Amino acid sequence: MNFKKIAGIEAAKYVKDGMIVGLGTGSTAKYMVDEIGRRVKEEGLTITGVTTSNETERQAKSLNIPLKSIDEVPYVDLTIDGADEISADFQGIKGGGAALLFEKIVATYSKKCIWIVDDSKMVEKLGKFPLPIEVIPYGSQQLMHLFEEKGYQPTLRLDDEGKTLITDGGHNIIDLHLNEIDNPVEFGHYLDQLVGVVEHGLFLNTVSLVIVGNQDGPQTIKV
Ligand code: A5P
Repeated sequence: MNFKKIAGIEAAKYVKDGMIVGLGTGSTAKYMVDEIGRRVKEEGLTITGVTTSNETERQAKSLNIPLKSIDEVPYVDLTIDGADEISADFQGIKGGGAALLFEKIVATYSKKCIWIVDDSKMVEKLGKFPLPIEVIPYGSQQLMHLFEEKGYQPTLRLDDEGKTLITDGGHNIIDLHLNEIDNPVEFGHYLDQLVGVVEHGLFLNTVSLVIVGNQDGPQTIKV
């Protein structure tokens, strides 16, 4: 059984006619976008999608899902996206797929966010998954040194060809290997005030519904 697919298909049921829908990025979100595409084609579902990455934009276009950019809509009704880790108090790490900046912008202007995950993503505390930090290329080595001094074990993310990864927004990503984040809100504030940091992968107080795919099917948790 494909737990990501179970969660993705379940989440697509929350999409209703006329909605402006934020379309997340990643291997789980891909199933949700496929299912919305199927509903558009077979059920005549009428929505406007707002994508969170070039990758999702390509997929949505191939499925003929009508799209607008985040700047062409007044707000987003519902965003459905994946996550890398969700803690017991429903805070999240995102950005494993390098789309955290656009994902956070779309989530911020959404009335409601649903996260879709397989059960391996549910953890007690955040931090085992490396925390992605999106940074401006200029000065990024200085941030690497700073994070190293702090003991955060930073690594500069590379693309599939072994070159420095460039995000859709034209930035780089530094992954922090923290193992455990005791106070995500405090750590988020610390990262927010660092010069050269564009955004970080801590998504705090963002989600209102989590759909977890596991062997018993989709489990829906209201936050
Ligand atoms: C993209 O940058 C991420 O935030 C993804 O949403 C997250 O990494 C989950 O991806 P998967 O569904 O592929 O695990």
